[in-house]
Amino acid sequence: MSAITAWRGSGLQNELTHGFHPRIAAMNPQTIQSLLSLVPAGGGVKDIFCGAGAVGIEVLRDGREFSGVDISGLAVGIARAQTWLPAADELALFRGLTVEAVAFAAEGEATQADPSALDIAGLREFLLRVAPPAPSLVLNALLFVLSYVEHDVFPTWRRFHPLSHRFEKVAARYSAKLGELRSAVPAGTKAAEIHLGDAQRLSASLSAPSLAGVVTSPPYPGVYDYVETDVLQCTAGLAELAGDLGAAEEIGSKKQREELSEDGFRGRWQAQTVAWLAACEAELRVGGRIAMLIGDNAGIDSKASVEEAIRGSSLELVASATVGEDARRPWAKHKRNYRIEHTILLEKR
Ligand SMILES: C[S@@+](CC[C@H](N)C(=O)[O-])C[C@H]1O[C@@H](n2cnc3c(N)ncnc32)[C@H](O)[C@@H]1O
Repeated sequence: MSAITAWRGSGLQNELTHGFHPRIAAMNPQTIQSLLSLVPAGGGVKDIFCGAGAVGIEVLRDGREFSGVDISGLAVGIARAQTWLPAADELALFRGLTVEAVAFAAEGEATQADPSALDIAGLREFLLRVAPPAPSLVLNALLFVLSYVEHDVFPTWRRFHPLSHRFEKVAARYSAKLGELRSAVPAGTKAAEIHLGDAQRLSASLSAPSLAGVVTSPPYPGVYDYVETDVLQCTAGLAELAGDLGAAEEIGSKKQREELSEDGFRGRWQAQTVAWLAACEAELRVGGRIAMLIGDNAGIDSKASVEEAIRGSSLELVASATVGEDARRPWAKHKRNYRIEHTILLEKR
């Protein structure tokens, strides 16, 4: 298996709804396509660390059933919005409510002392009043646009445009992207199912395991605090639509790395790797595969962790490829976040 590790550097990154929302760590569509080609054809594909839903977009484009899970409410909201295949009446409702929202924000701005102030909370209240309630994907899409505007906020001195203008522009661009996605997905493809959940405790399906593949990129050890970063960056309410997970545990967070001893963090990482792989094993059919992209950090060799975690299970290593930053960008060796990354393919026997 040749190395197919790549996070950036392809024009496809702006295709369809890919990377529309600027949440961290969105995966490269070309890499996803390569990983997807390694799992058996036919049958559903799942991403248990779905983030902003990039894998979902490619699975839908392939005409296959997709389900996604993430521990971050914001990620779930973004993934739902970026994989949304709205029916004609839903799209019309989204566009109509956008017009109303723009008028509402503009009215407020006309009487505001500072017309460039972004009244995110005010517009959020309005949207919650006028849109069909959750689990409506129309409401999710409207809060997605608001969350984008909030995420992309410029410092005050650079705010040339008020909220009404920005909301209108982002909604129009998103609506055009949804059209592109709709035309790229084969007719009859089932809508994506995306849920808030902990990959270590997937609710195993009651029927026989039926999943053909898991295509995913787990967190890298000790690099990010996804949930905390998301909470800080989002007051637009998109995250709340996903629900509340209670005591779920983010895998390999930077915080865990800072709080635990080196051995403690390593042990925790190994236990988490065992747990999420066992959860996938339970959902995969025999012959089903897990194709993943994962990196090393904090002295942890992630590939070795996976190999140790599947020992004695029905999962077997089929192939792997490893690449360092120096293979892609020779000058990067001196960078602080220099990384070795692995593409790993497992099969349930
Ligand atoms: C490398 S990112 C995946 C990015 C995704 N492929 C994309 O294109 O946006 C890892 C994801 O794992 C999620 N995550 C961390 N711990 C988790 C857990 N216990 N269960 C489910 N998701 C988790 C994070 O919120 C983050 O979105």
